This record gives sequence, C-alpha cells and structure tokens, in this order.
Amino acid sequence: MNFQNLTIQSEVRNFATLNPQIAIKTFKKLNIDFCCRGTKPLNVVCSEKGLDPNEVLNQLNRSSSNETFSNQKNWNSLSSQELIENILVNHHQKMKDLLPELTQMMTKVLKAHGQKHPELHDLSKELKALRDELEPHLMKEEAILFPMIQNLENDGFAAKKALKNMHIPIKVMTEQHEDLGNLLRGIRKLTGNFSIPDDACNTLTYLYKKLEALENDLLIHTHKENNILFSKVLIRQKIATQIS
Ligand SMILES: [Fe+2]
Ligand SMILES: [Fe+2]
Repeated sequence: MNFQNLTIQSEVRNFATLNPQIAIKTFKKLNIDFCCRGTKPLNVVCSEKGLDPNEVLNQLNRSSSNETFSNQKNWNSLSSQELIENILVNHHQKMKDLLPELTQMMTKVLKAHGQKHPELHDLSKELKALRDELEPHLMKEEAILFPMIQNLENDGFAAKKALKNMHIPIKVMTEQHEDLGNLLRGIRKLTGNFSIPDDACNTLTYLYKKLEALENDLLIHTHKENNILFSKVLIRQKIATQIS
C-alpha cells in the first residue's frame, strides 16, 4: 500500500499504521521513533535529525511501489479483540520466554568476558532495568488494560462508564512505553548499535543478536499498542464525549 494520501505534515505513526512493512524498515534505518513519539509530523522529525522530509517521503513511496501485495500486514484492520490476541501471542509470550534467556546469557558472558569488556557491566544493569520494567508492564496490560478494552465491546451502562476513564490507564501504559524506549536506546548505545566485538565468543554473539531481536520486537509491539489499539479507544472515547 503506498503513502499517496500522506504528506510531510502527516504524523509518523500514520505511515507505520498504513504500511508497517515499509515504514518500519525505513524508519528504523533512519533512527526515527515511530512508536513512542509517533505523533510527531514527518517534517518535524526530519528537521530534528537533519534529514530532508521530501527525500524521506520519496524513499517511502519508492519502497512501497516495489512491494509485493502478499507481504503486507494490516494490523489496523483487526478488531480490538483480534489485535489483543495478536499482541499476546506474538509479543507478550515471546518476551516472557526471551527475558529469562537473555538474563542467563548475560550472566554467563559477564563472568567470562566482564574483565576484558567492562561495558558489559553497564549492559547487564540496563538489561536488568528493562526486565524489571517490562515484566510488570506485560502483567498490568494482561490483567487490567486489555480486559477493560475487551469489555468495551459489551453494550450497556458499565461499558459506557468504563470508556469515559480509559485515557487514565492508557496514559500510564504509554508512559511506561516511553521508559522502555529509553532503556532500549541505552542498550543500543552500550552495544554500539549491536556491533559484535571482534573477539566475541558464540554466547556473546548470540546475546547481541538476541538483544537486537528484542528491540525489533518491542518496537512493533509498542506500535501496535500506542498507534493502533490505544489510539482507536481514545478516538472512540472522544466521539462518545462529543455525542453525550
Ligand atoms: Fe503489550
Ligand atoms: Fe505495552
């Protein structure tokens, strides 16, 4: 799907929602935050980064015209229920498996290479901070926010009342996404953009690759929540307020 209806004034998140396949790849390459800071217009983000917004827009359009239709992912067309299931299966479960595995690998490489690579100590602290923030975050979404969103599908007074206050838990989760984004940036910096050291053993190589995979996954996960799932609830809340 191309971006012909979007301009350099459009919000970055709209590109990622319309054609995640192309937009996410391009934004990642240009280090443009499309999930936590996705409400910024493309031209503003580009001027902050010293990029030419028209060139970035051309790049997005060129890439989308080469894209095959079968590769397209349209998370935006899913219902809230379907999107929540998609997030739980593809991201929450993945994180619950990956975080203990990464902690174990980190302990191992720190023991073996901590002396020669002092940056691994800071990396270990950053990873621990990410895990300490991310695990309770997943739990809160599963136990509180996702069931609240699912209940909005019910008719009646309780659902209407719940919709009125939805911006409160959404704000909390969005702020946590921002904190997680900062921790991810810290990990990227400490690993020198995931550049594997020349003398890395297999475990260290694997750890760096897994950390990069974690970043990729968490960016898409956050995009699905901030820019699609939560955004739709907030639009619905706004419309309900205007009607009443
Ligand atoms: Fe989540
Ligand atoms: Fe989240």
